[in-house]
Amino acid sequence: MPQDLKQTEQQWLARIDDASDLAALETIRVAALGKQGEISGLLKTLGAMTPEQRQIEGPKIHSLREAVTEAIAARKAALEAAELERRLATERLDMTLPVEGAPQGTVHPVSQVMDELAEIFADMGFAVATGPEIEDDWHNFTALNIPESHPARAMHDTFYFEQRDPGSGSGAGAAGHRMLLRTHTSPVQIRTMQGQKPPIYIIAPGRTYRSDSDATHTPMFHQVEGLVIDKGITMAHLKWTLETFLRAYFEREDIVLRLRPSYFPFTEPSAEVDVGYHMRDGRRVLGGTDHWMELLGSGMVHPRVITACGLDPEEWQGFAFGCGIDRLAMLKYGMDDLRAFFDGDSRWLKHYGFSALDVPTLSGGVGA
Ligand code: PHE
Repeated sequence: MPQDLKQTEQQWLARIDDASDLAALETIRVAALGKQGEISGLLKTLGAMTPEQRQIEGPKIHSLREAVTEAIAARKAALEAAELERRLATERLDMTLPVEGAPQGTVHPVSQVMDELAEIFADMGFAVATGPEIEDDWHNFTALNIPESHPARAMHDTFYFEQRDPGSGSGAGAAGHRMLLRTHTSPVQIRTMQGQKPPIYIIAPGRTYRSDSDATHTPMFHQVEGLVIDKGITMAHLKWTLETFLRAYFEREDIVLRLRPSYFPFTEPSAEVDVGYHMRDGRRVLGGTDHWMELLGSGMVHPRVITACGLDPEEWQGFAFGCGIDRLAMLKYGMDDLRAFFDGDSRWLKHYGFSALDVPTLSGGVGA
């Protein structure tokens, strides 16, 4: 009998040693120590023995069980360590490898054009300024010489916020001014003049809103404002700036501008700026003087606007202009339906969008 148990132990230890993986080891454990296992069976025989027999056999069977249990635990630890080693070797991630597949997103043409504008104007010494899209009517209208009863307010198809009780904090701005979605980027003129000392040379690109919707108008659109406040500024500076900007933007030396007298409450005199174009293969191509299209509004900043911002119009003068960015993008990159700009159709974005690496630079050509 003792010889048998020793043999049994050797056999189990050999099988345990041979187990090549955790699943095989578990099968062995069940066969030895499970409810129906061989060693469990041996333990059950103790009950039928005489006390004397049991005193002799009991410790032997228990030590057999212990030896097998320990051998299984040791083998399990060894197999687990080997498995971990294998995974560490095979599942290693090389963080320096390039990501799989090219990025899917594109830079929206409007964002691209805004970057081009910033680049071109930075070269002429202009900084980029911003202002809130939710404005109060003082900045959007009153300070721009558009008082309450002015017909220009009606012209703008303004989205107003519901007016709340004064002091409730929403619906009314500073000093109880009505809140609205800015109808143009011109309020950034006001905020900039109030916030920094002249000389001022800024552009302010951003979103603007009017209650208007057809093939050439969307309720949200983009404008870029330009503002110069300095000493001795004239219309000639305005024209030179616009011409230099548009020649760089369209990358054509033959861009010709025509300034037409116009009216804006916040500029005096005011000028609508037309750009010359010609037809080629049934398409409009900018350049030359065959035909003219209206491109932007501009003028010399009205003395009342300068005064509203706390500056002396005898000392400081300047010019301002406002131009639709979406239109600039369409003219340069050939889209003909404005609404598609804001549909978020991935096919359109893939076709007209830009690679994130196409960063516009003057040296590389702003057209990217
Ligand atoms: N804010 C005007 C508009 O939206 C454009 C403009 C800006 C005109 C600055 C003159 C000077 O139509």
